[in-house]
Amino acid sequence: MKKFLALLLSLALVATLLVACGGGDKNSGKTETPKTETNTETKEEPKTEEPAKTEETAGPKTVKVGITIYKFDDNFMTLYREELERYFKEDLSNDQVKYEVTVVDGKNDQAEQTNQIQTFIADKYDVIIANLVQSSAASSVINMCKEANIPCIFINREPTAEDLDLWDRIAYVGADARQSGTMQGEIVLDLDNKGDINGDGKVSYVMVIGDPENVDAQYRTEFSIKALTDAGVQVEELVAQRGDWDQAKGQEIVAAALTQYGEQIEVVFCNNDAMALGALQAIEAAGRTVGEDIYLLGVDALEEVVEYVNQGKITGTVLNDHIGQAQTAAEVAIKAINGEALEKNYTVDYVKVTKQ
Ligand code: BGC
Repeated sequence: MKKFLALLLSLALVATLLVACGGGDKNSGKTETPKTETNTETKEEPKTEEPAKTEETAGPKTVKVGITIYKFDDNFMTLYREELERYFKEDLSNDQVKYEVTVVDGKNDQAEQTNQIQTFIADKYDVIIANLVQSSAASSVINMCKEANIPCIFINREPTAEDLDLWDRIAYVGADARQSGTMQGEIVLDLDNKGDINGDGKVSYVMVIGDPENVDAQYRTEFSIKALTDAGVQVEELVAQRGDWDQAKGQEIVAAALTQYGEQIEVVFCNNDAMALGALQAIEAAGRTVGEDIYLLGVDALEEVVEYVNQGKITGTVLNDHIGQAQTAAEVAIKAINGEALEKNYTVDYVKVTKQ
């Protein structure tokens, strides 16, 4: 009987313990993360387009931005990409959204860049920002993005209007290169002799072209001269050669032109500042003096060039606003992620830079 009582007691004890331990189980559901939306403002998200992914856990949602630059080894595009990355990370990221930015080097190779864009797509980036190696690749890039429903913002190298019509989640952010070309011409027109140093009634010039496939190069080449001829100034083209936006090539082209045409050259137009820096080296090596027996123009307003303009070593340049363009590109990219309606073109103004 004692044994039986002891057994009963121990059974009762075990039962009490089980109830005590398991007691919380029924309520433990309360500690589970409730499946309610943490963010009621996201209601207006369009059903068809799923923009940025929201992380399950609390904290900022991560938005992946994939940027490809035609080549890292370009003075202007280096400033541009640094600002783009800084702006996303420092100014636009906050408690709600964290922009995770990946910037890759297209190495001036379209096949390589197309692979990079495919990788961004495979890795489900939320938006792509593309500074194409070849503007002619735009349509195939747009089709890839459209198929994956990942918006794409083109920068610096403008796709054609037909390309931009292919889809509504793409846009171009840049500057109107006609404006920069015209400003280069106007800087020459503002000189007392309007560029005609030797007084023979015409302006004899050398044109150092960026890359003939690029509208920036086409327009700067055309409109710098058009500004002169529109003002009734006679012109004579001595040399027009492609320098691929590159300082060393700018130097070679201008050195060869100076050897061939010497004193005849009155104005050297360069489609960008990097090539103008090369041209300056060639001009100084040939014993010529900018502002006295030759004029030199660039575009971009790189810090170094602005300094030379102030010293009179370069006649003038035109500010290609990399900060304005980078910030606009980032803001347009965010609109695209959010499924907002986009314009086809976003344009940032150029500004003339002379000693005055
Ligand atoms: C800039 C150049 C740059 C080129 C790259 C132009 O807008 O003026 O400096 O090399 O873009 O595409």
